[in-house]
Amino acid sequence: MSRKITVTGATGNIGQLVVPALLAGGAEVTALVRDSKKAEGLKSQGVTVIPGEYTDAAAVQTAFEGADAILMIAPPNPDAVTQMSALITAAKKAGSPHVVRMSAIKAAADAPTENGKLHHVSDNELIDSGLPYTILRPHLFMQNIWMSIPTIQEQSKIYWGMGDGKMGMIDVRDIADVTVKILLNGSHQGETLNPTGPESITFTQVAEAISKFLDKEVTYINVTYEQVRQSIIEMGWGEWGGQVMHDYAKAFTEGWGDFTTDDVEKVTGNKSRSIDQFVSEVLAHGF
Ligand SMILES: NC(=O)c1ccc[n+]([C@@H]2O[C@H](COP(=O)([O-])OP(=O)(O)OC[C@H]3O[C@@H](n4cnc5c(N)ncnc54)[C@H](OP(=O)(O)O)[C@@H]3O)[C@@H](O)[C@H]2O)c1
Repeated sequence: MSRKITVTGATGNIGQLVVPALLAGGAEVTALVRDSKKAEGLKSQGVTVIPGEYTDAAAVQTAFEGADAILMIAPPNPDAVTQMSALITAAKKAGSPHVVRMSAIKAAADAPTENGKLHHVSDNELIDSGLPYTILRPHLFMQNIWMSIPTIQEQSKIYWGMGDGKMGMIDVRDIADVTVKILLNGSHQGETLNPTGPESITFTQVAEAISKFLDKEVTYINVTYEQVRQSIIEMGWGEWGGQVMHDYAKAFTEGWGDFTTDDVEKVTGNKSRSIDQFVSEVLAHGF
């Protein structure tokens, strides 16, 4: 009998990669989706789509009923704890599914960003729920670099506010691989994993990797934390998002993200992908 897996955040960065891999792995996949246009693409892949928001209790319950495993992903936002709480409550009512929850790098009560603090609250709620769980706390996504494509193309510059801070940033494809393996096998229950890329690198090294791939010099321009805040607000992420990215920029500049783990390899058997692989295999599609 195939494994029944429900995915939230199926149309996001991680979910988009997880869903087809679960289907390829023989799972029966259900997705809770709030945008009917995005639901069509999932239906055509063979996914059962339940329309609804995280806080639509009836829709969430329908999506979770009978699931062997559930992937819980909510975007960074001030209501994330309420949203996650609604999902955890529904999972408890649905029996005893294995919950895989997407948290974030070094989530903790004293994390330097509000996002990290909220993730810590939700991580604890899941641990205390009595449900079988696996918590994933991935490092900064390499895929965030996608938003720099216009300035790389127009100015040969990449603007970030991480100073010379080193970071074990990770390719989202590795997060998806880890997630899929755990969901399909029901493995790593009761564990919190911290997936990272293979090396801790600066944005100067990111710019060098892009320069090498494009065969033209791309320069990293370090902007102030205040400029980070303003540009995030201008991108439509609101005051909360602006403050969170301001605080991440400061923390990363100060070396808070300077670490790597071998958690990707421990779960998948494969080394995590390098910045060169990310640039040539993912970012390349944006040029
Ligand atoms: N970016 C990073 O560097 C980084 C690093 C570590 C951890 N994280 C964590 O990773 C998580 C985000 O993962 P991601 O990037 O894959 O997600 P994402 O791309 O931000 O997508 C969020 C998903 O949630 C759905 N969604 C949003 N609000 C919803 C609602 N009210 N009801 C139902 N569905 C809703 C979205 O649907 P729509 O498509 O309709 O919007 C989308 O499918 C966050 O918890 C973040 O803190 C991020």
